[in-house]
Amino acid sequence: MSNINIKLPSLKDAKKRTKTPITIHRDSYDISESLKNLGVNRKYYLRTYGCQANERDSETISGILNEMNFIKTDNYEDADLLIFNTCAIRANAENKVFGEIGQLKRLKVKNPDLIFAVCGCMVQEEVVVEKIMKTYDQIDLVFGTHNIHRLPLLLQNTMLSKERTIEVFSKEGEVIENLPVNRFNDYKAWVNIMYGCDKFCTYCIVPYTRGKQRSRLIQDIIEEVNELKEKGYKEITLLGQNVNAYGKDLDMEDGFALLLEEVAKTKIDRIRFATSHPRDFSIKMIEVMKDNKNIMPFLHLPVQSGNNEILKLMGRGYTVEHFKMLYDKLKESIPNIAFSTDMIVGFPNETREQFEDTLKLVDYCKFDFAFLFIYSPRVGTPAAKMEDNIDESEKSKRLKELNERVAKYGNINNQKYLNKIVKVLVDGKSKKNDQVYSGYSEENKLINFTGTNINEGDIVDVYITEIRSWSMNGKKVN
Ligand code: 5AD
Ligand code: SF4
Repeated sequence: MSNINIKLPSLKDAKKRTKTPITIHRDSYDISESLKNLGVNRKYYLRTYGCQANERDSETISGILNEMNFIKTDNYEDADLLIFNTCAIRANAENKVFGEIGQLKRLKVKNPDLIFAVCGCMVQEEVVVEKIMKTYDQIDLVFGTHNIHRLPLLLQNTMLSKERTIEVFSKEGEVIENLPVNRFNDYKAWVNIMYGCDKFCTYCIVPYTRGKQRSRLIQDIIEEVNELKEKGYKEITLLGQNVNAYGKDLDMEDGFALLLEEVAKTKIDRIRFATSHPRDFSIKMIEVMKDNKNIMPFLHLPVQSGNNEILKLMGRGYTVEHFKMLYDKLKESIPNIAFSTDMIVGFPNETREQFEDTLKLVDYCKFDFAFLFIYSPRVGTPAAKMEDNIDESEKSKRLKELNERVAKYGNINNQKYLNKIVKVLVDGKSKKNDQVYSGYSEENKLINFTGTNINEGDIVDVYITEIRSWSMNGKKVN
């Protein structure tokens, strides 16, 4: 297959940050009638890897494909178009994608007209695109995180020319407001409040794959939340890589606290947000969370490490003492608040003592849940250049030890809910047992429960009868 329309990514360009103000586009996405016919009698299968930002992007991709009259299928064997929306955060995330692209090569043999597309964070890296070009000739279309709005044209080009199309921009990025969306859930919605990240933590690839921080305007966000509320949505999650920095690029002071207050005024039942950064988390934020009952008593606050030297090497911009201060203040103001965090073990040259500081922090904060990772070097980031003298088996041992410590508190924390009533937003029937329903409490605890007259999207009272580390069982109160 020869290559036309090739625009390759560059991590070096993606690193640049200029003072150019962000532009908001309200008419970048335009779809002609001929493009709307491109999907007639064709089915698409979309697979999403990674974080909530990718989930939300997939809802946009799906919205665009629906406008092009493609039909969604959950069975890739039936599909005329496959799209993999990928994640670059760690090497194992990438290896999984390559493995699955490899496995599905056989579908191209069965159906030579099948279009196989790869998009998302991975293809913002030149090493990935080079590998696709060299070894994965089943891939027909590659597009990045900055040009989803061009999907109709890119697809048309690929389908009509029968040539491989690659278009990835490595730029700071814009805000594009007029994109269609096909939300995958009828009661819970993701709402982007900002794109990109300017923090450049030394291990992280996100500022390169998703560009400069760009906040949406408050009025656009509020309009979206009001629309969702009118449609019957019960819960929204405000999304950004570093939500506490919301508005900094719009010269706002403590913009996220302000935005949260405005969102709370819409009176939507449940408000969540992700992801918070300890450095930008303000005291005003704590007050806003405390004063608004529709902001859920749950906080995902990634700490990454419990050691100040490692935090410094990671470029996190706060100390363990600062994190503990925030934690104490939050607990004091909102006594029922639940916490989750992210932690990385095996950062280059992390000593046993430094790792033990992370264990100590877990003892202090007693997180309800934690996402734990072994450090994975990402080409192009500063940490990838640091020499590393810890062997893999030691890293795995630390991960296991940390995991056990976190699990202990997960269980202890849940004990306080036994014989108490919690409010649950019903997701539906449990996957394992159709007599059982499941949903999440205000504190973001997974609750499995039985009862009658239960509908998806209801907020119900559940009496807790059994505790586990990562979930609880109960009965609906009539
Ligand atoms: N290696 C391991 N974990 C990482 N994360 C981000 N980059 C890396 C990396 N290179 C983790 C951080 C972050 C979460 C989303 O992923 O803990 O908070
Ligand atoms: Fe990555 Fe740090 Fe930005 Fe989070 S805040 S996306 S860890 S650079």
